[in-house]
Amino acid sequence: MNNSKKRIWNGTAELISCTHTAAKSIFLKIKADIIAKSVTAGQFVYIKTSGASEPLLRRAFSVMDADPAKGVIELYIDVKGPGTESLAALTKGDHIDLMGPLGRGFQKNTFTENNILVGGGCGVAPLIMLAKEIKRSGKKVTFCYGGRTKAQLVFIPILKKLADNLIITTDDGTAGHKGVITKFIDTKHTYSVYSCGPKPMLKALSAIFPNAYVALETEMACGIGVCMGCTVPMASGGYKRCCTEGPVFSASEVLWN
Ligand SMILES: Cc1cc2nc3c(=O)[nH]c(=O)nc-3n(C[C@H](O)[C@H](O)[C@H](O)COP(=O)(O)OP(=O)(O)OC[C@H]3O[C@@H](n4cnc5c(N)ncnc54)[C@H](O)[C@@H]3O)c2cc1C
Ligand code: FES
Repeated sequence: MNNSKKRIWNGTAELISCTHTAAKSIFLKIKADIIAKSVTAGQFVYIKTSGASEPLLRRAFSVMDADPAKGVIELYIDVKGPGTESLAALTKGDHIDLMGPLGRGFQKNTFTENNILVGGGCGVAPLIMLAKEIKRSGKKVTFCYGGRTKAQLVFIPILKKLADNLIITTDDGTAGHKGVITKFIDTKHTYSVYSCGPKPMLKALSAIFPNAYVALETEMACGIGVCMGCTVPMASGGYKRCCTEGPVFSASEVLWN
């Protein structure tokens, strides 16, 4: 099923909470009934602060969690530039221009008895929702979580509750194993592998697991398949649009150079 064909909601939504972390990032809870009911893991929303003239374009963020009963979605955002800084300045009751759910997410029919999820940085956000979907289907999750240093690993408390098996690595050895996460993944058994994170990590993972499913984060303009601003080169030649034909691709489909 191509879930990019589902109905897209576009409007103004109320911010329920904005929680700052020590790692220059925020968790946003947003009232969004329709999106909370229909979004699936790997899909994203396209948002900006309501009424703000700068930046002009909205920014894309994966949905980290959705509560259909309460009509609430949750996002995790690394604060980097003007778009994310204006979101980080919001407080409860403020309004956000919100469009979603967008894109083609992870497909439930790919889940196996044991599933490996590999995440780094803000790329962990869509994998939290995916881990919950996998657990609801009665299957197991091994979560491989890597970062540069311990202070960046903001998802550890959530993942300790969620994963059947949690493997942590840091480049500097301040938490978990020292080294890059791709060195610590079990390659002996057959699993479904899902990942989101920095491109070098995805590229290294795709060399080990060409059948992995990877969620890409390209820069975007329209978010709905019109402008061709988000194209991803394909191994077979040509391009696909990250916003509508992705952001989730099979690793072997992508030309990683
Ligand atoms: C499908 C999708 C899902 C995403 N999910 C998340 C998420 O869950 N959490 C999160 O924090 N971020 C996510 N991103 C990245 C996020 O959209 C960018 O970080 C954001 O647009 C930066 O906006 P800005 O105005 O703050 O910074 P800008 O000034 O626009 O950019 C700041 C820096 O970030 C880089 N950058 C901008 N856009 C992207 C991008 N799309 N990917 C990687 N680097 C970028 C720029 O090159 C620049 O170096 C996602 C992107 C996509 C396409
Ligand atoms: S962002 Fe315009 S086509 Fe994808």
